[in-house]
Amino acid sequence: MYTEKVMDHFMHPRNVGEIENASGVGTVGNAKCGDIMRIYLDIDENQIVRDAKFKTFGCGAAIATSSMATEMIIGKTVQEALEVTNKAVMEALGGLPPVKVHCSLLAEEAVHAALWDYAQKNGIVIEGLKPPVDDVDEVEERDKACE
Ligand code: FES
Repeated sequence: MYTEKVMDHFMHPRNVGEIENASGVGTVGNAKCGDIMRIYLDIDENQIVRDAKFKTFGCGAAIATSSMATEMIIGKTVQEALEVTNKAVMEALGGLPPVKVHCSLLAEEAVHAALWDYAQKNGIVIEGLKPPVDDVDEVEERDKACE
């Protein structure tokens, strides 16, 4: 059911933890399963993601996708980090079962929420970045769409 890569990132997640005085922090939740994910970003003066850490209170797929997502955004500019989609993360993991696709969305949304926090704190506009979804109705609509 799960690829070796998913299992590897689930059993040995990379970048678990917190960043003190992070440049941006994003917390998102999935109303349906109750899982929560928080991503911390350390962004340097050239708008490059120097470090990323995560904490996930969630399922194995959520852990594996946050692990892979943090790996994929470290070293990238904020604009490039924004373009790391849940699809790209899933591909890097060799795929996820269809019922677990929404878990990868959580990772994407957490990265976006952290980028939003960074942009707000610094008065920066990251092109194409939308405010994080914090309206439960919107979350529910999104979840219905993934079913
Ligand atoms: Fe909730 Fe995977 S089941 S994030």
